[in-house]
Amino acid sequence: MKILNLGSLNIDKIYQVEHFVEPKETIKAAAYEELCGGKGLNQSIALAKAGAEVYHAGCIGQDGGMLVNILEEYGVKTDYLRHSTKPSGHAVIQVNGEGQNNIIICGGSNDDVTEAYIEEVLADFSREDMILLQNEISNVDFAIRKARERGMKIVVNPSPVNKALETYGLESVDFFILNEVEGKYLSGKESDRPEDIMEGLKEKFPQAAFVLTLGENGAYYFDAKSCVYQKSYDVEAVDTTGAGDTFSGYFLAGLVQGRGIEENLRSASMAAALAVSRHGAAPSIPALQEVNEILEKERRL
Ligand code: RIB
Repeated sequence: MKILNLGSLNIDKIYQVEHFVEPKETIKAAAYEELCGGKGLNQSIALAKAGAEVYHAGCIGQDGGMLVNILEEYGVKTDYLRHSTKPSGHAVIQVNGEGQNNIIICGGSNDDVTEAYIEEVLADFSREDMILLQNEISNVDFAIRKARERGMKIVVNPSPVNKALETYGLESVDFFILNEVEGKYLSGKESDRPEDIMEGLKEKFPQAAFVLTLGENGAYYFDAKSCVYQKSYDVEAVDTTGAGDTFSGYFLAGLVQGRGIEENLRSASMAAALAVSRHGAAPSIPALQEVNEILEKERRL
């Protein structure tokens, strides 16, 4: 099974701050860095680091050299990437003293993913293959429709959530990976309880399987017949940016490699915990060997 990740690539502009800037306030950043990110790119790197073969498709600007380089450094296949006349997408990220973030994304070249380009890329994939989509590029709805026509397995990480998602034909999706904010939105439930969110999601999308991540409160895998819980691992939070993407990439890699759900959740959780303990999004994603070694030590305790 080939994995096609049709997703965003961003230059992350990261400002280390004591607290998030408030209305009418001006604050000085303690540090500034530009690193590679974008939910799409982060998930491709996590997939590759977890041992999966992944093709990344998406659009970059003339300034996107660093984005291609990091994908290639980790073995992600970049032949399908296209250049746009717009600058690459970017994200403005504040990271506070507790390692929490807030993020503004600016689409840039991610908004130049056209229907014609999607059709061209998908022509090389078939019912044996999987497509992974997030919600940071243009024409996600078209990609879902075309992938369904080709019989591909469709995985959606509906992030960030917005109203457009409701028009996406999500009843064709085989697998959702989402956090509690995204889960609550898509479930249509008012409640914040994971149990209610899960019920709502199953009612709305009975065809699908799900991973619901709850940050420090763990994660659930569930489908119509089963439900498995995984606790999160304790770490000192340095920067939570990209932790969800790390979880998604590791979990999907395990799924494709035929690993069991429990083992797979453990590995994705540990990878996400390690990502939280480091700066940046893509650069914080750990290698599989490191994840396995720590899990092995944990098992022996
Ligand atoms: O999920 C983290 C990512 O969200 C960042 O890398 C940023 O680019 C935004 O897409």
